[in-house]
Amino acid sequence: MPWGKLPDGTAVDLYVLTNKNGLEAKITNYGGIVVSLNTPDRNGKMEDVVLGYEKLDEYVKDNPYFGCIVGRYGNRIAKGRFELDGKTYQLAKNNGENHLHGGLKGFDKVVWEAVPDTAGEASLNLSYVSPDMEEGYPGNLEVRVVYTLTDKDELKITYFATTDKQTHVNLTHHGYFNLTGGAKRDILAHELSINSSGFLPVDKGLIPTGELRGLGGSPFDFRKPKPIGNDINFNDIQLEIAEGYDHNWILSNPQSAKEPGLAATLHDPESGRYMEVFTTEPGIQFYSGNFLDGKYKGKGGVVYQDRWGLCLETQHFPDTPNRLIFPSTVLLPGTHYSSTTIYQFSVK
Ligand code: BGC
Repeated sequence: MPWGKLPDGTAVDLYVLTNKNGLEAKITNYGGIVVSLNTPDRNGKMEDVVLGYEKLDEYVKDNPYFGCIVGRYGNRIAKGRFELDGKTYQLAKNNGENHLHGGLKGFDKVVWEAVPDTAGEASLNLSYVSPDMEEGYPGNLEVRVVYTLTDKDELKITYFATTDKQTHVNLTHHGYFNLTGGAKRDILAHELSINSSGFLPVDKGLIPTGELRGLGGSPFDFRKPKPIGNDINFNDIQLEIAEGYDHNWILSNPQSAKEPGLAATLHDPESGRYMEVFTTEPGIQFYSGNFLDGKYKGKGGVVYQDRWGLCLETQHFPDTPNRLIFPSTVLLPGTHYSSTTIYQFSVK
């Protein structure tokens, strides 16, 4: 259905996916944003588990990446610069001196071509052609993202891309989850586990230092489920730099995984809502919503304070284009980028 127009007059639509159990996702082709996602609590009450706005205009005006597709490169690239195929590329520095989430107009701010499919499980097929040198990245990149709301209560996201020149690609989804339903309170009582062997410490600009650090009982150890609020105020330089958690964890899944492996689990003990994240990606950025700051008035008039939502962004590691030891994000002409992430909902 028509949802509104951008300031330049481009029409934008909103699509509704439902499954046999009554779960519902509303997704717009502006930025591929999941505007709402209704899942049941332990009493069967359907409520929205993602932060966001009610209206298109609000997303256009000021969106801290609520619910969108992030690209061409999710996360940060140091000084917005990399060398590839003997050439130096300079991208926008839109996060201090660094490049974040694809630049000034990343995939979160473009209008995707959308084709819904309701024949089997409800899905939405989004395509976008990012021209050569858009936001400074080489190569015409043809991108396709498919959202499916499966009858197993999964929001499944598959990403595909091809290029005609060497480039870097690291696509992700930037949903802010709050399993209380309707964002009733912050996420500090949510219990999180991350299936990981270590994490990447960062510098003051949130760029990985290159160290792969073990977890061993530190505030970053989520190998067993732990309330997010437990250690978030621990006296730790890494928590201080990011004002909470805003780091990439190294997943224990095989790095070349073709089938999505378990990356993380999230539980709100009060509502009973439980979410499992599966991915083919080697890393996950856990961002505890440290910079929300009461600046955003979201759906239902709720003002999102710090830690009112959290992101679990499956991806390759930040700044990979400048780090040869990290799993590569280079995409070559004639090869295919593909990646799958599943957010599965249940109660316990
Ligand atoms: C980053 C945060 C950033 C946020 C922007 C997250 O993916 O890790 O550092 O502030 O996106 O909303």
